[in-house]
Amino acid sequence: MSLGFRAVQWNRQKLIYDGILLAVVALYIGGFAAIYWWLHPPKNLPDAIDIWIRAFGTCAFLMLTVILSIGPLARLNRRFLPLLYNRRHFGVLTFFVAALHVWFMLDWYMVQNNLPNLATELTTWSDYGKFIGFPFKVLGIAALLVLFLMAATSHDFWLTFLTPRIWKALHMALYIAYGLVVMHVALGIMQYERTPLIPLMLVGGFATVAALHLMTGWRERSIDNGITASDEGWIAVGPPRSIPDKGARIIAAPGGERIAVFRDGDQIGALTNLCAHQNGPLGEGRIVDGCIICPWHGYEYRLADGCAPAPFTEKLATYRARINYGIVEVDPRPLPPGTPAAITCPP
Ligand code: HEM
Ligand code: FES
Repeated sequence: MSLGFRAVQWNRQKLIYDGILLAVVALYIGGFAAIYWWLHPPKNLPDAIDIWIRAFGTCAFLMLTVILSIGPLARLNRRFLPLLYNRRHFGVLTFFVAALHVWFMLDWYMVQNNLPNLATELTTWSDYGKFIGFPFKVLGIAALLVLFLMAATSHDFWLTFLTPRIWKALHMALYIAYGLVVMHVALGIMQYERTPLIPLMLVGGFATVAALHLMTGWRERSIDNGITASDEGWIAVGPPRSIPDKGARIIAAPGGERIAVFRDGDQIGALTNLCAHQNGPLGEGRIVDGCIICPWHGYEYRLADGCAPAPFTEKLATYRARINYGIVEVDPRPLPPGTPAAITCPP
């Protein structure tokens, strides 16, 4: 673990994040239930329980939308970076909110002594071929299982055990969960409730996530297009001053691998853009006292050789850099992790 790892253990910042998160969720669920109760006073106990099903269900959907938007938002605007900081707790809380949605749904059946009906609904195989009348709850169950898997493997133990690459690929399943929830609502409540609020929530949420990802993708495309490789395969980055001081320019190797080319005064160093922690975009970080600080959770790496400062042991792949006719060039073939490769620009 790097020095910055301390930042993701219990500390004041994290407690504030979690406190605000819990307060917003409680306010949403309480506010939703109060307004709904006032607009449609429940006639019986199942009606009252239904309000909680809806409050927790919509809350989980909106939380999923926010989680999937945080990544691209933070890449488009650094002001959103603090939201990334404790995204794992956000994800775990989303699982619990969705689980409570399901708990109230079970309660709805139980207070009517009707639980066997739920089992019948889920096992009436002929309904699986229908569009209207599809057992939409099964889509919710699949989404909840994915959320459970994400929450259960969110601890750093799993990150180390599975390696960041596999862990991140696994956590991409969140997109599948989101799709399942969209279908769960579109084939479920949207079929029998005529309020425009439900399609508005679904389309609004889905469009926001899709638009933010497209915008980030578009921005990253310009990274791929702007670079030319020389005859020997070195990539031209630009004059040293085109790299922001204490910051980086991100370039793409011919295979698509991102390389972060940093400048600290007159020192230039190129490293993989993938942080060893959770593959965060290192090139969007800043240099403090000769160390690059990952923007996501604060892991640190020396610019000189890509090694985390002692007592930590992470090492990143570095790349050879040179100045050719006043232009910084980078050899896109990675050096073994931890190889000193930074250079000093001539005055
Ligand atoms: C990740 C998991 C889940 C999420 C995010 C989720 C989300 C939602 C949302 C947003 C609604 C629409 C609420 C409204 O606008 O009124 C809904 C409705 C519903 N969900 Fe889920 N759901 C999940 C899992 C489940 C599961 C596992 C079940 C059952 C096994 C379930 C049963 C229902 C039922 C019965 C309704 C309709 C409620 C009504 O008629 O008032 N959900 N869900
Ligand atoms: S510190 Fe977590 S991804 Fe870099």
